[in-house]
Amino acid sequence: MCSLAFAASQGERIPAPAATASGIPHLRQQGTATQLIVDGKPFLALAGELLNNSATGIEHMKPIWPKLAASNFNTVLAGVSWAQIEPVEGKFDFSIVDGVLQGARSHNLRLVLLWFGSWKNSLSSYPPDWLKRDFERFPRAQVAGGRSIELLSPFSEANRDADARAFAALMRHIKTVDGQRHTVIMIQVENEVGMHGDSRDRSPAANQAFEGPVPKDLMDYLQRHKDTLIPEFRRVWEAAGFKTSGTWEEVFGKGAVTDGFFMAWNLARYIGRVAEAGKAEYPLPMFLNAALYGVGRGPQPTPSGGRPWDLVMDVWRAGAPRIDMLSPDIYSETDFVAFCAKYTQSGNPLFIPETGNGQTVAARALYAFGRHDAIGFSPFGIDRPDRLGNSPDLTRVYELLSQVAPLILKHQGDGTMSAVLLGPKDPPQKVRVGNYTLEAAFWPIRYSMPLLMPGEPPPGDPLPAAALFIAAGPDEYFAIGSGVKVTFSPNTPGPPLAGLATVEAGTFVDGRWVTDIRLAGDDTGQGQNLFELQRHMGIQRFTLYRYR
Ligand code: DGJ
Repeated sequence: MCSLAFAASQGERIPAPAATASGIPHLRQQGTATQLIVDGKPFLALAGELLNNSATGIEHMKPIWPKLAASNFNTVLAGVSWAQIEPVEGKFDFSIVDGVLQGARSHNLRLVLLWFGSWKNSLSSYPPDWLKRDFERFPRAQVAGGRSIELLSPFSEANRDADARAFAALMRHIKTVDGQRHTVIMIQVENEVGMHGDSRDRSPAANQAFEGPVPKDLMDYLQRHKDTLIPEFRRVWEAAGFKTSGTWEEVFGKGAVTDGFFMAWNLARYIGRVAEAGKAEYPLPMFLNAALYGVGRGPQPTPSGGRPWDLVMDVWRAGAPRIDMLSPDIYSETDFVAFCAKYTQSGNPLFIPETGNGQTVAARALYAFGRHDAIGFSPFGIDRPDRLGNSPDLTRVYELLSQVAPLILKHQGDGTMSAVLLGPKDPPQKVRVGNYTLEAAFWPIRYSMPLLMPGEPPPGDPLPAAALFIAAGPDEYFAIGSGVKVTFSPNTPGPPLAGLATVEAGTFVDGRWVTDIRLAGDDTGQGQNLFELQRHMGIQRFTLYRYR
């Protein structure tokens, strides 16, 4: 299972692990997609992430669980605090973890646990007090001028080994209490790692490593994968002459970009070791989440403090082969599409552990699952006291997605599923799905005057809209969407025009399609398109025919 998706993309053979045989949640390739297999079946994580510290209190969680279940989540991302599980060095207390597991189980929810270990948001607030106090033994990173910051240095074996020991104990415990039940389906190792305040650690150990050669393991990896490296990364190496040995500055040039590569490698080595220790106990799929940058700000983003950005994906892959995927925390609405594309490069499976939970979240979910075969999607802060539960739109879309999940999972990776995400100013977009090309235009139905009912409030700004399409047969489709208007054209030889035959709005009940109403006339633009008058997100089944 280790780095299954990465390895597959690089054409390397990894032997099937024992974990697969014993039914532990694992990743598996299906066509071009990577699927998360839970209890022997592919699983679509309709997830949401709790506020950072919610899962440190069992009583605190009691009123929250039922609301989450009622919001149609099937998976919850919950933090595990290192300080809480190892209050005294070497003495572990998993009572809170057990309570969280119990809470999730009794509401039929799965868990993705977030290991808040050495690093959380590029600082170190979650390590235990005994470790924080012992700064000689557990050194901090330093910024220019030799000032220490509250960030455990990745250049310390003591730091790494303490983290790895605690993480291994956690994974051992999860195996003991959940090895059969599989409530916990994946693990995030650390949280949004990187560094603030400087482009690299400038502690004495870090300076010494920076002056030394680029490690042979990394150089060998880069040479082996020279033709498939992330293009922006390859260009930096190329600009410095594609050297195969030398110091960091000789191989990649001087500056903050190189500092970022150096940090990425050293963080990857550290976290890779932590992940390895955990997987030796219980090899659940493991990922890292990344705090992102602004697309289009400057010619090239600087890989700040080594964050697991797409630009340095190869460095992370080489340094931490037991990490299965890099996962973007996509808060930017305007860059959502771009980041989905960046984080599916070279076979990286898409799992979005954090995204905004605002008005457009439902459209983003449809897009991630339909366009990129996402393993899961997870807005952040689903238990915010002022908004406990889920946005009504996402609750609805998660309900629809859970109905369609068997079909989505069947079609992942075979090229017969796609999606569009369109803002008010975006031009129409074409997607090939099966034997037809679908063209979707933004269509702000909610603001169409004839549809406003007496007393209805005036419209605000139109919100982005989305639709997901699956070709279930040569002329048969299912779609989920609203706010777009979809037309069709054939993309195989034959009569050039496509017409809408049967169009139905309905529901999947236990995987079987049940028609609620049959649509034509006003509801299909008089037979010309889909969704034109659809005010509420729903599922439609439609068949097409060709004519001239
Ligand atoms: C990103 C972090 O990963 C989360 O833990 C959370 O703190 C959010 N930022 C808050 O916006």
